[in-house]
Amino acid sequence: MPPEAAHTAAESALGVPGFWNLLRVGNGGGNPLLKTNLAGIDLPTPLGMAAGFDKDCKVLGSVLNLGFGFTTGGTVTLGPRPGNQKPRMVRLPERKAVMNSLGFPGQGLGPAVERLSRASKHKDRVLISISGTIEDEIIECLRRAQPLVAGIELNISSPNTSGLRVFHEPARLRRLIEDLVSIKNVPLFVKLPPWPRNDENRRELLKLAATAVDAGVDGLVIANTHPVESRLLQVGRGGLSGAPLFEHTELMIADIQAQVQGDVAIVACGGVSTAEHVWRLLAIGASAVELYTAFIYEGPGLPARINKRLSKLMKAAGISSIGEIYGDPPQL
Ligand SMILES: Cc1cc2nc3c(=O)[nH]c(=O)nc-3n(C[C@H](O)[C@H](O)[C@H](O)COP(=O)(O)O)c2cc1C
Repeated sequence: MPPEAAHTAAESALGVPGFWNLLRVGNGGGNPLLKTNLAGIDLPTPLGMAAGFDKDCKVLGSVLNLGFGFTTGGTVTLGPRPGNQKPRMVRLPERKAVMNSLGFPGQGLGPAVERLSRASKHKDRVLISISGTIEDEIIECLRRAQPLVAGIELNISSPNTSGLRVFHEPARLRRLIEDLVSIKNVPLFVKLPPWPRNDENRRELLKLAATAVDAGVDGLVIANTHPVESRLLQVGRGGLSGAPLFEHTELMIADIQAQVQGDVAIVACGGVSTAEHVWRLLAIGASAVELYTAFIYEGPGLPARINKRLSKLMKAAGISSIGEIYGDPPQL
């Protein structure tokens, strides 16, 4: 099945909440060991669904019932958008990776806000990812969505949407964040693009992170997909996600942690597929972890498996809270 059709099928299946509600009991997310706090948001487990899976906020409750401690709806833009031309999502199964150039297809803020209001019982565990290329549009998204969510994730980092790069200019990003901070009443996270190991771009992106922190964000999400060029995508380029990203995610979290020194919360994202991955990222300073591509390959049981194994690793290490995780995970 083509990847976008498979996604629609998964969404339809998750849209039958009665069934997924049944899974809540065995999802491993109720273990008190896993309780954590992300920038003031209390969560049953540090594992979240990353932005992009539930773009129009259609299946928030079902995703949570699978065992995710939180879910990130969106990315939502003010108006509806068709996204880029197809093919715009390609699976690379031998690498457990995906390339996408979706470019924010979605119904826009109105329908998302309507669904968020209907899912208000889940509000405490829902983040919404918002974006746009014009400040006023992003501000409007925050204003209307924030009463309905636990936190806001500002996406300035999709490689697939022309125009987002305007916010890679530190002065422009600072103004936008300061405007958002002046009206926000829930934690605000900024999702950054990944930075390469050594070159000018790394310094620029770390400066962007420092600007965001200085302008008052509560957390950073590190990071979005890695830009790639490919003739398999109609537009010729897109973002790579999945297994090949993990090692680099670890390096970036270490980098950013050295820079922010605990001033803001860090959410790690990129290539996570096991409890050992989650452990490693928490051990080097992340407060929470998001994944998406591994869910495509491993299926709906993945968050429950990660929760259960993470609890097991913690017990084996003799620790009783997420905050105590350090060093390498124990070998089981
Ligand atoms: C098909 C697809 C769509 C995505 N859409 C979004 C999006 O709308 N907003 C966003 O911030 N990130 C989006 N992402 C990026 C993911 O949230 C995540 O940052 C990235 O995939 C790395 O994590 P992973 O390796 O666990 O997938 C998307 C990723 C994929 C694969």
